[in-house]
Amino acid sequence: MSAHGGAAPAGPPGGVGEALSAATAGLPAPLVALDLDAFEANLDDLLRRAAGTPLRVASKSVRVRAVLDLVLARPGVVGVMAYSPWEALWLASAGVADVLVGYPTADEAALDAIAADKAAAAAVTLMVDDVAQAVRASRAAAAHGRTLRVCLDVDASLRLALGPLALHLGVRRSPVHTPAEVAALAGSVAQLPGLHVRGLMFYEAQVAGLPDSSAAVRAVKRLSLADLDVRRRAVRDAVQREVGPLELVNGGGTGSVDRTAADPTVTEVTAGSGLYCPTLFDGYRAFRSRPAAFVGLDVVRLPGPGYATVFGGGYVASGPAAPSRLPRPAWPAGLRLTGREGAGEVQTPLRLAPGRVLAVGDRVWFRHAKAGEVMERFADVHLVRRGRIERTVPTYRGEGRSFG
Ligand SMILES: Cc1ncc(COP(=O)(O)O)c(C=O)c1O
Repeated sequence: MSAHGGAAPAGPPGGVGEALSAATAGLPAPLVALDLDAFEANLDDLLRRAAGTPLRVASKSVRVRAVLDLVLARPGVVGVMAYSPWEALWLASAGVADVLVGYPTADEAALDAIAADKAAAAAVTLMVDDVAQAVRASRAAAAHGRTLRVCLDVDASLRLALGPLALHLGVRRSPVHTPAEVAALAGSVAQLPGLHVRGLMFYEAQVAGLPDSSAAVRAVKRLSLADLDVRRRAVRDAVQREVGPLELVNGGGTGSVDRTAADPTVTEVTAGSGLYCPTLFDGYRAFRSRPAAFVGLDVVRLPGPGYATVFGGGYVASGPAAPSRLPRPAWPAGLRLTGREGAGEVQTPLRLAPGRVLAVGDRVWFRHAKAGEVMERFADVHLVRRGRIERTVPTYRGEGRSFG
C-alpha cells in the first residue's frame, strides 16, 4: 500500500487489512480471503451462545465445503442446514451424516435422486409446509421403496391484531402458524407413503436476521420471543399428539442463537452468517461482529483528486434493493462508494477522505453485506492467519457447483 505527499497512514498498523494484503501480495485481485483467527473466534462465540444446545451450520451462509468441514469438526455441531436438495445430495454423498434442507422444494428430479441413493435418503431431511411438497417427496420415496424424513416449517412470524389491523411481522414463508394448523399438516403428511415426520423448524427472521437498530425493533424482538417460547411448545405438543414423538425442533439464526437455545423445547439452533460477519450483522446487541470474510480489489486508475477506482466490486447482496445491500470498503479507512455509481459491474470508483491517497496497484479490502453469496463470485478462498495464507480452498463455485 503506498501513500504520497503527507497522506494519512494507509490503515491501522497491524490491522486486518494490512495482514490480508501481506498474505495475498502477488496474487491477482479480485480475490476473497477469510481471516481464520476471526472466523474461529466467531465459531467459538456461536457455540458459547448456544450454551450446549447443538448447532447446525447454515451452508447458504458459507458456500465453501472446507469451511463447513471446519465447523462440522467441532463438538456440538450436529450437521448442515442446506438450501437446495441437490446440494443436500452432494453433501450427503461427501459424507455429511445429517443434512436438513431448510427450504421446501418442488424439484421432482432432485427428490428422486435423493430417494434413489440409500445413503443420501438416510442422511437428508426434507422441509415441507404444504401437502403439495410432501406428495412429491412421497412419490419419490415410494418409487424407490424408501422412507424419507421430513421436517415441518412453521411460520415463526409475529402476528398481532390491533383492532381491525392484522400485522404480520416477519418473513413470508410457511402458511402454517397455529398448533392446530401444524398438527393438521403433520397428520396429512404422515399418512403419505414413505414419509416420516422427523421434526419442526421455526425460523424467527424478525429476531435472528434484524439488527437491534431501534427501540421499535427491540420491542418486536421481545414480543416475538415471548410468543415463540409459548407457541413452539404448543405446536410441538399438538404435532406429537398427532404423529408421535419428534426428534428435532430447530430454530434460530446468528442473531438469536442464545435466546432460541434457551427455550427447552428447542433441540438445535442454526447459524451461519455469524462465521463470516458480513455488514448486515453489525449492530446486534447479542454478539460482537468480528468481520472474517473480505474481498480484495486493486486500484486500477485514479479518475481525479479524491478518487480511486478499483477493478471489480459489484457484489450486491440479495434482499430489498437498498444501500445496506452494497459491499462496503473496510480497509484502508476513509473510503466510500459514490452515490452515483455504487458498486460497479466491472470497476468501482471510491471517494477518498481528505488526506487519503491511493496509487494504482494498491489493494483495498471490502466486506460483503451478506455471508455466503459473495463466494458465488470466486472459485477459491484464501484462508489467512496473521499475514500468511494457510490454505487456499475451493468455494462451491470452484467445485463446479451452483445451487441457485
Ligand atoms: C431457515 C433458516 N434458518 C436459519 C437461518 C439463519 O442463518 P444465518 O445464521 O446465516 O443468518 C436462515 C437464514 O436465512 C434460514 O433461512
